[in-house]
Amino acid sequence: MYVTIFMCMKKKPVLVISSGAGISAESGIKTFRDADGLWENYPVMDVASADGFRRNPALIHKFYNERRHQLVNARPNEAHKILADLEKYYDVRVITQNVDDLHERAGSSNVLHLHGELMKIRSIKNPDYIEELSPDNLDTNVETRGKNGDLMRPHIVFFQEPVPNIEKAVEEVSEADIFVVIGTSLVVYPAASLLNFVRPGVPVFYIDPNPADVSGFPVKVIRKTATAGMAELRDILVKKAEEKE
Ligand code: OAD
Repeated sequence: MYVTIFMCMKKKPVLVISSGAGISAESGIKTFRDADGLWENYPVMDVASADGFRRNPALIHKFYNERRHQLVNARPNEAHKILADLEKYYDVRVITQNVDDLHERAGSSNVLHLHGELMKIRSIKNPDYIEELSPDNLDTNVETRGKNGDLMRPHIVFFQEPVPNIEKAVEEVSEADIFVVIGTSLVVYPAASLLNFVRPGVPVFYIDPNPADVSGFPVKVIRKTATAGMAELRDILVKKAEEKE
């Protein structure tokens, strides 16, 4: 006779993170809109728009080559690492506007990139044909072809282009038991609209030393850098998770 034992596997609460350039600032990667940010030194519509790519693709290849060389010399900081560690307690889902791979290198296993990925290139003809670059092969130019023979471009979502992962992001935010926004000026849409999809009653935290105005939302603002703010929030989140056990 067989006895069937039903094991009740307890699901971890869902912690959704929306990160922006500020989380990587302490890894030495410049933000876009702070003083001396990238958009102060480069005309944004030349290096990050679909029109810019049509006008001068060589400039855009050069711009992202420089970003890649900077990225391979950067390391994840404590904020990225704490998020990865929180997977012990939470089903952590990171939604990032960043094109760097520092969340992945810190160990986060569930990362959704809204604005593309620096270490990837894609076919100009077929957006689903994507190849990865390696640290010893970072540079592309207007003649770079993929293994399938197609001309390739940076795997970056330019201004004037749709954001393919936004629906998945909205779905994740609507499943959040806790939502945390880190290091973003909340000026670029649709990413900035994610706050609208949090279910009523879900705790929301926003870590940023110079936060945007979120007075219309029930948000606890932690006015600190990403590493200091995440150290503070980690204690709150671990306590919450232990209380639920
Ligand atoms: P921004 O440069 O607009 O904003 C950076 C935010 O990070 C600001 O709110 C800063 O106060 C904050 N910040 C600065 N240092 C910080 C630190 N040490 N810790 C925490 N926060 C810090 O960057 P994003 O909001 O990410 O898109 O920009 C959104 C999008 O605009 C980018 O993904 C990019 C850009 O154009 C594309 O290129 C498609």
